[in-house]
Amino acid sequence: TGSYEHILTSTPKPGVGLITINRPKALNALCSPLFVELNEALSKYDNDKEIGAIIITGSEKAFAAGADIKEMAPLSFAAAYNDNFIAPWSHLANTIRKPVIAAVAGHALGGGCELALMCDILYCTANANFGQPEIKLGTIPGGGGSQRLTRLIGKSKAMELILTGKNFSGKDAGEWGVAAQVVDGGKDEVLEVALKTAETIAGYSRVATVAAKEVVNKSQELSLKEGVDYERRLFHALFGSKDQTIGMTAFAEKKKPEWSNE
Ligand code: CAA
Repeated sequence: TGSYEHILTSTPKPGVGLITINRPKALNALCSPLFVELNEALSKYDNDKEIGAIIITGSEKAFAAGADIKEMAPLSFAAAYNDNFIAPWSHLANTIRKPVIAAVAGHALGGGCELALMCDILYCTANANFGQPEIKLGTIPGGGGSQRLTRLIGKSKAMELILTGKNFSGKDAGEWGVAAQVVDGGKDEVLEVALKTAETIAGYSRVATVAAKEVVNKSQELSLKEGVDYERRLFHALFGSKDQTIGMTAFAEKKKPEWSNE
């Protein structure tokens, strides 16, 4: 367990790093110091050879109720632009190479919704409360919501949500393909599902899981041909890994592979 002010960290299963956003007095609003801690914990797990998958969760009431509105209220354009306000929010998507799973219960609004969308796999409760309510504050999403949500659910639905600030439920998130699975129950139940998946991923070769995440994410950036070419190159490259030999030999010998992570 690390020593942070706004988050808790633990390794509840072998190979699984769990980050719990823990700022209950502000419904886990993502103030700048919280994001610094979140990034530090993410990088620590990403660099830890024992860890194979990372989970981000919140509380029963809130995954995160957005960026911290009280911190943002007095900002000027110059301050936001010159200091590149919320630049640390790009760390998760741009830098973290191991799979990251969001386990969402309660509010996931504004930046909280965006943080969940940045994760590689999203699980939520049926009554989780997602939305991009920035329009009600006289502004727009700033953590990638207009881009990631639109890619996931299409332009018309994303426009409607972002222009009206209307929320959507965990059940909707499942139906629209935003969530990989909608879980009955509350935070404990959704975390249980996330832990199972994380443990499964952490049980595979780290070389393969990191490569798998990399190629799936490329599909969001490249044309189909470029993406398939990219995948093919990395697929070829994995013939240079020890774990490809270990995995395929174990199959032929009807044994359980003992991964080297090399
Ligand atoms: N920032 C700062 N403080 C917040 C917060 C936020 N995003 N969300 C909640 N809080 C605080 C409240 O101010 C309140 O603090 P006090 O007790 O000191 O007054 C405390 O958390 C509890 O909140 P409520 O009393 O409002 O709780 P509720 O259960 O009545 O309502 C809620 C819950 C509907 C989520 C409501 O808190 C709410 O609407 N929050 C704001 C949601 C929002 O607009 N998020 C988007 C932020 S903008 C953004 O994220 C920009 C971006 O894209 C990067």
